[in-house]
Amino acid sequence: MCGIIGCFGTNGVAEPAARSVLEGLRRLEYRGYDSAGVAALDGCTLVVRKDVGYVDQVAVRFELEDMTGTVAVGHTRWATHGGVTQGNAHPHTDMAGRIAVVHNGIIENYRALRDDLTDAGVVFRSETDTEVIPHLLAMAMADGCPSLAEAVRKVCARLQGSYAFLALSADGGGTMVGVRKDNPLVVGFGDSQIFVASDVLAFGPMASRMAPLLDGEIVEVTMAGVRFFDVYGSELAKNSDAVDIVWANTDRNGHPHYMLKEIFEQPRAVCECGAGEDDSLVDAALAILGARQVVFTACGTSRHASLIGRYFFSKIARRFADVVMASEFGYFARSLNPQTVVIAVSQSGETADVIAGVKLARQAGAHVVSVVNRPACLLEEMGDHVIRLGCGAEVGVAATKTFTCEVIVFYLLAHAMVNRLKQGRANVERAGELLGELLQGLNGGLWKLAADLKGRDHFYYIGRGVNFAAAMEGALKLKEISYIHAEGMPAGELKHGTLALIEPGTPIMAICPNDETHAETISNATEAKARGAFIIGVSDLPSEVFDYWIKIPAVSPLLYPVLLIPPLQLFAYHMAVARGCDPDKPRNLAKSVTVK
Ligand code: M6R
Repeated sequence: MCGIIGCFGTNGVAEPAARSVLEGLRRLEYRGYDSAGVAALDGCTLVVRKDVGYVDQVAVRFELEDMTGTVAVGHTRWATHGGVTQGNAHPHTDMAGRIAVVHNGIIENYRALRDDLTDAGVVFRSETDTEVIPHLLAMAMADGCPSLAEAVRKVCARLQGSYAFLALSADGGGTMVGVRKDNPLVVGFGDSQIFVASDVLAFGPMASRMAPLLDGEIVEVTMAGVRFFDVYGSELAKNSDAVDIVWANTDRNGHPHYMLKEIFEQPRAVCECGAGEDDSLVDAALAILGARQVVFTACGTSRHASLIGRYFFSKIARRFADVVMASEFGYFARSLNPQTVVIAVSQSGETADVIAGVKLARQAGAHVVSVVNRPACLLEEMGDHVIRLGCGAEVGVAATKTFTCEVIVFYLLAHAMVNRLKQGRANVERAGELLGELLQGLNGGLWKLAADLKGRDHFYYIGRGVNFAAAMEGALKLKEISYIHAEGMPAGELKHGTLALIEPGTPIMAICPNDETHAETISNATEAKARGAFIIGVSDLPSEVFDYWIKIPAVSPLLYPVLLIPPLQLFAYHMAVARGCDPDKPRNLAKSVTVK
């Protein structure tokens, strides 16, 4: 949550830094979009422009494109401390306006620090936790710190919580310093510009090489170049890697929204998923087979994929695994031990609850398998084994292709556990081909269905076995982007309470492909229809009970979720558009949830 980027033009001929920062902010907007701002050093003057709204709205209102100078930092916000106001938007400055700070994360002890600073005469201009940082930095400099980097190191010793922040000082011709703890920060090297940002996506096309910072490491950028320091202040040598151009591509390819583009990328992503990951899959499979207990931990969509994964483990490899939602994981920490394998699943690789759970797992001596999509993420650093989804950047806040690829990874992992990886791959490839054909023919019908149902207030999604987790995911997509109440549940649970909510016309998505769950789910749908429900069947088989049929092709039984979730994503997408919602930027949400 919150995206930060800084740009330092090192040769004086690069285009104004603010323009590059603005471009980076547009690419970071998936991390938060309630306000935005830029601080640029113009000569000796630090100019700050910020306001509530999307990056482009603020850019137009305050002419951010026209800010001059070769050093700038910028921020796109997802509010945690303090409402969505201009005053709370970043950058924040010290009282003299000589140091500007942009921050992602939470400073947990900010109240105590704020009290100390207030006692020392500081006047605060915002309600944020962040504002303590520029004031502390200014004080450290006034107390004789020899450099901004050293001031940052000193100030970090007083900060509790998680953070990645950039400080820009107007003194000495301009200095930009970045540091991180439990939040990502990556340095990018362009021809004539140095970037420091929350994600490589931010500077993707503008830099050719990148170097992620580790916790406690500090980067300092001045006219003299880039230097890295460790947590003790000693200078570090750091290697850089080439920026993955494919990953950094955030083009919408003619689609009106990222979500639609990402839905249609799924057939290819499915076929290519896990390519080059055979060794990781086999190593992880061996670790799982050798473990006493196996636990998935994840949030949201990644948790739904994990719920499907546990069925695969049981059905294909006869291994029981539990799924604990990451925000609850800590409460089970006492039952972890060195015989536990924790499969931590996060497309962003930086979800705070998942990271916190993995820390506890590591403390207990458990083995960690990280399943991630974003390169160079925190979870990747923390895994004993790392399996990459490899499906390219997902920008829409609603997870689509990463869900499908997580499901595929678990399917392959289960096959690796029984030494049938090749067979698993062949099944997956077939599913990918079928999905391609399905999506081509489906769009118009789902658009019409959405237009008919856009006024409904409640939806229920039901399924059994792997399709129960798919039901949960279908419901999450609908509520997340179209703001309609939707519940996903095991079909057999309907009659244990929820049936009381069914009224004439209540839409129920009955997920009942031709697998072992079909007949019983149809029975449950029929019970609901007897109470007036409007049944939308998602299946390869027709049924009299369906008022509307979303027809999918037949596939190897456990792979049905790969074919039936994309139509549900598409339905949710059309519902959002039909209701005038922006599917890429749902209200109150952000893609990377880096706060607990
Ligand atoms: O990056 P992660 O996979 O850890 O994200 C977990 C959830 O925040 C995420 O899946 C969320 O539920 C999505 N916005 C759902 O579409």
